[in-house]
Amino acid sequence: MAWEYSEKTRQLFMDAVHGKPGTHMGEIEDPDGFGEHGSIVCGDALRFSFRVKRHPADPTQDVITEARYLTFGCTSAIAASEALCAIIEAGGFTPLQALKVTNQEIVKYLDGLPNQKVHCSVMGAEALEAAVFNWAQKRGVDLAKHGVTLGGEKDNDGRIVCTCFSLSEPYIKAKIRELNLHSIPEITNAIKAGGACMSCHHAPGGLQDLLDDAWGPRPTSLKASPTAPASPEPVAPTSVPAPLSAWQLGKKVEKAVDDYIRPILKKDGGDIEIVDIKDALIYCRLKGACAGCAGAATTLKLMVERTLKEQVDERIRVIAV
Ligand code: FES
Repeated sequence: MAWEYSEKTRQLFMDAVHGKPGTHMGEIEDPDGFGEHGSIVCGDALRFSFRVKRHPADPTQDVITEARYLTFGCTSAIAASEALCAIIEAGGFTPLQALKVTNQEIVKYLDGLPNQKVHCSVMGAEALEAAVFNWAQKRGVDLAKHGVTLGGEKDNDGRIVCTCFSLSEPYIKAKIRELNLHSIPEITNAIKAGGACMSCHHAPGGLQDLLDDAWGPRPTSLKASPTAPASPEPVAPTSVPAPLSAWQLGKKVEKAVDDYIRPILKKDGGDIEIVDIKDALIYCRLKGACAGCAGAATTLKLMVERTLKEQVDERIRVIAV
């Protein structure tokens, strides 16, 4: 299944991967603020950095003049990161003002995101928080004195509720309130918790209990029966797309490689060769500078496979040869 992205999201993504002037993919050398969010193991990671024009007397009046990001490249992660940088640069914000940029503003800038991709906008807002925290440490700014408590990675101490994504009770509780999340699917869409094995959904102290703590218990009729196995939230039936013929699959893979994957690899002097396609298995190898890169396996698994899943068919698996 290919996601339904807005025209704005597609355009930002294409501009970024083709390195169009004015886009923000990259890293600032010796940045004034640097933050990361997510984990490569979980399949999402964003590195965000910014530069400020320093105020000679009052660091809280520093103004962000430049913002950059690096992320593993699904369409929405790149477009949301572009949106974040564009909003911040255009705003002429101090780092403290930049903290007011929310994930909803990122979604609005993109003219919407599919629900299942909202976590990409949350990831941007959290990497920004981490970068502002880093800036404050470097510039000797006491954030607490300015009424700022950051609720991102710093709260990720305490009991782990979702082991698949290593997310703790304090962190999930904070996000439930901050992002106004009222159901398990909403939690999963926003921060990914509960999006893998689902064992944390209705376990004691699990996601449903945290929702009940935040908003009050659900009506009894909506609760999982104690005698029946916990079941995931009801999912609306979806139509199953007709399978692609081998020729159609090959053409779509070729086009996705040319449009989305090759431009990113070429930026680092690399390339990719599709060696064979059998059913949904894509056999390929990285070439050029990417072939000997220590991160080749990760690039294939995360960037190449995820892009092909998004653009062509979610059943695709990439095999390195
Ligand atoms: S423990 Fe939460 S999805 Fe597996």
